[in-house]
Amino acid sequence: MIVAIDGPSGAGKSTVAKAVAHELGFSCLDTGAMYRAVACKALADGVDLADADALAAIARDARIEFLHQCGEPMPSQVAIDGRDVTAAIRTGDVDRAVSPVSAVPAVREALVAQQQRIGRAGDYVVEGRDIGTAVFPEAAVKVFLTASAEERAHRRVRQNVDRSVGSIDFDEVLADIVRRDELDSSRASSPLRAADDAVLLDSTAMHIEEVIGAICELARAAQ
Ligand code: C5P
Repeated sequence: MIVAIDGPSGAGKSTVAKAVAHELGFSCLDTGAMYRAVACKALADGVDLADADALAAIARDARIEFLHQCGEPMPSQVAIDGRDVTAAIRTGDVDRAVSPVSAVPAVREALVAQQQRIGRAGDYVVEGRDIGTAVFPEAAVKVFLTASAEERAHRRVRQNVDRSVGSIDFDEVLADIVRRDELDSSRASSPLRAADDAVLLDSTAMHIEEVIGAICELARAAQ
């Protein structure tokens, strides 16, 4: 069974997806981390971000792994070709590089194929931008999770403070969120949009527990 959670940057998808997976006893897949890992490797290898063929080669050939820390139920570390990029994929450089990388159709094709392979192997909560529309259009539960841009920027700053990584300047974070929303929604290949049959959840004024509870209820009703 697949629970698809899509939505813009900073809507709380990662936190919610992990908690819902934990509640339901499902695994959890963060597809944004895969696009980030490809962008991170491209930057590290000095690849021109306008070189679609080189970006596609990384997406096709590089080995992306999600690793569990000892005793943790959910994967918390990401590696690409054996290099731990857990912190590196959350830097401002990767924030800026990831939208152009994810707009390349051949990059999407390669990563979507990997995501489908992973998700079909078990019960998964999968979070991203195009899960309900392109990766798992047959998902049993589809949620489009959003919140106002300002609320999302506040949450992202708090998260960056907690993780000691990324910008903690509110205006800078808000500008990045607005810029990525625009790029992700306007790209030709699988733009960010709610699936026609997705349940819309605006979490601006909701507690995270309410959001988690609402999605678990949808999943239990669909089981
Ligand atoms: O979710 P997160 O903010 O980590 O995603 C980073 C970027 O990866 C997004 O801004 C978007 O460009 C891209 N992405 C995507 N499709 C997905 C997940 C993420 O295009 N399914």
